[in-house]
Amino acid sequence: MGSLYNLSLILHSYNRWLILASLIGIIGLAWIQKKQGISFHHRIPVLQKVVLISLDFQLTLGLLLYYYSPFPRYFWNNLPEAMKEREIRFFGLEHITVMLVAVGIIHYGILKSNKKVMDNDKYKSLIIWMIIGLFLILSSIPWSFSPLISRPLFR
Ligand code: HEM
Repeated sequence: MGSLYNLSLILHSYNRWLILASLIGIIGLAWIQKKQGISFHHRIPVLQKVVLISLDFQLTLGLLLYYYSPFPRYFWNNLPEAMKEREIRFFGLEHITVMLVAVGIIHYGILKSNKKVMDNDKYKSLIIWMIIGLFLILSSIPWSFSPLISRPLFR
């Protein structure tokens, strides 16, 4: 299953950029449209779909990686020593935990904001939840410039 692992890894790596761009885009657009008094139903629902589809695609790829990657396997086969190895612990435990919380928060935030009645409240709720999700994701990406866990920006 080496090729499925490699393909998932490449797609997982590139799709992060779509997630980040759509999250930053929806926060920026919501901010501008709120200020200008533009209806929430203008452009926002489309961007919400892009956010959710790219995120759920990433989750699917992540689950495939979690099954095929040597890091989680080593982690579960070598507990508790693996907890002391930073890279193994990161991919076996930390990355999946923070990302699952982020995915949950973004789904919840989109549902919550859509349920509000007034456009102003919809915008406010959406902006807050998307910022929380974005920061969680940013904090748990293995950035190439991270001194802790480093992976290339482009595979
Ligand atoms: C928004 C969510 C996520 C983002 C932005 C993200 C981003 C990334 C990035 C940038 C990498 C490094 C890829 C590379 O080496 O080129 C990575 C690796 C990995 N991710 Fe995610 N990830 C997310 C969610 C998840 C989830 C939910 C899981 C598990 C269910 C997961 C499992 C993994 C695994 C196992 C690796 C290591 C693969 C390996 O090197 O063998 N990811 N992730």
